[in-house]
Amino acid sequence: MKNILVTGGTGYIGSHTTVELLNKGYDVFIIDNLSNSRKEVLNSIEKITGRMPHFLQLDLCDREKVMAFFANNRIDATIHFAAYKAVGESVEHPLTYYRNNLVSLVNLLEAYEKYNLDNFLFSSSCSVYGDQSVLPIDESAKLSKPESPYGNTKQIGEEILSDTIRVNKFSGIALRYFNPGGAHESALIGEYPLSPPNNLVPVITQTAIGKRESMTVFGNDYDTPDGTCIRDYIHVVDIAKAHIAAVERLLNKKNKNKFEIFNLGTGKGNTVLQAIQAFESVSGVKLNYKIGERRAGDVVKIWADTKLANTELGWKAELSLDEIMRSAWKWENQLMNDPS
Ligand code: WQD
Repeated sequence: MKNILVTGGTGYIGSHTTVELLNKGYDVFIIDNLSNSRKEVLNSIEKITGRMPHFLQLDLCDREKVMAFFANNRIDATIHFAAYKAVGESVEHPLTYYRNNLVSLVNLLEAYEKYNLDNFLFSSSCSVYGDQSVLPIDESAKLSKPESPYGNTKQIGEEILSDTIRVNKFSGIALRYFNPGGAHESALIGEYPLSPPNNLVPVITQTAIGKRESMTVFGNDYDTPDGTCIRDYIHVVDIAKAHIAAVERLLNKKNKNKFEIFNLGTGKGNTVLQAIQAFESVSGVKLNYKIGERRAGDVVKIWADTKLANTELGWKAELSLDEIMRSAWKWENQLMNDPS
């Protein structure tokens, strides 16, 4: 069976993708430095799939160790999730983000060159689009300067991948996630913020369960139906399944270009208040929130044009905003019962 390297595989999207890969019969090698995830996730993955992935705790910024890994393991494709991803933190510590997110990518690509490897999937983000006037947004849109160093590492990462692929034999795909949320139906894996989260879905569930006193809606004076920002919230399991479609496109040589980019969204936008209302209706919990000032760097509205992924990957998001909130709430409750 094919061997797939999943960097950041004990993380949020990485663990959900590992579950889908194991369920499809692939052998999975996880490399993770556990800087923002827990090793116990491996046991949860085994509980869900009945299979334990290979695991190596390793910092991808360590070039020697990365080269040694590929010298000792036959890898048929790599899905590269490992990166720091807190937008606000990246503004405070830009060099930490540029070093970690870009040196790790360069090391992996140097190994690809050295060992003549093929099939590289890069975890990118709708953050590369910045504020856009034409919506829904498609992959051919002219990118504007991302709002944060985090978003910039994704934009630069896509360019590094594209330039490297151009002068090598291997192919690659960048997947631009919109706003991932929710958790696996088993509630054995989910978003596990080791530090207080900034993104909306876990802020909602932590407020509802009492881990946080209250939450703030960052601004309700935007040019949107209810004045709050619009985002394309997509279930993490839908995102994971898109990775299977993308890695199989490469493994089966179905890609039409050596470097391809796909949006991973639902194609539907929801406001912050609509997201809160969805949570309240599926959980039965009245959320304690207040309206506050706008958050610096927030894009007013963005949602995906998903036609390319639908037609080329044969993939379409199937789970609703309600399902995102239902599964996120189930996961938050499970965490409370098992805070290990
Ligand atoms: C969503 C909306 C906030 C928290 C994220 C990731 C980024 C990328 C895209 C993957 C905004 C509002 C939030 C709160 C609020 N994903 N909000 N109160 O900023 O779109 O970016 O998705 O790569 O990495 O950070 O997501 O969840 O932070 O914000 O009102 O306490 O919710 O203002 O309008 P964002 P978010």
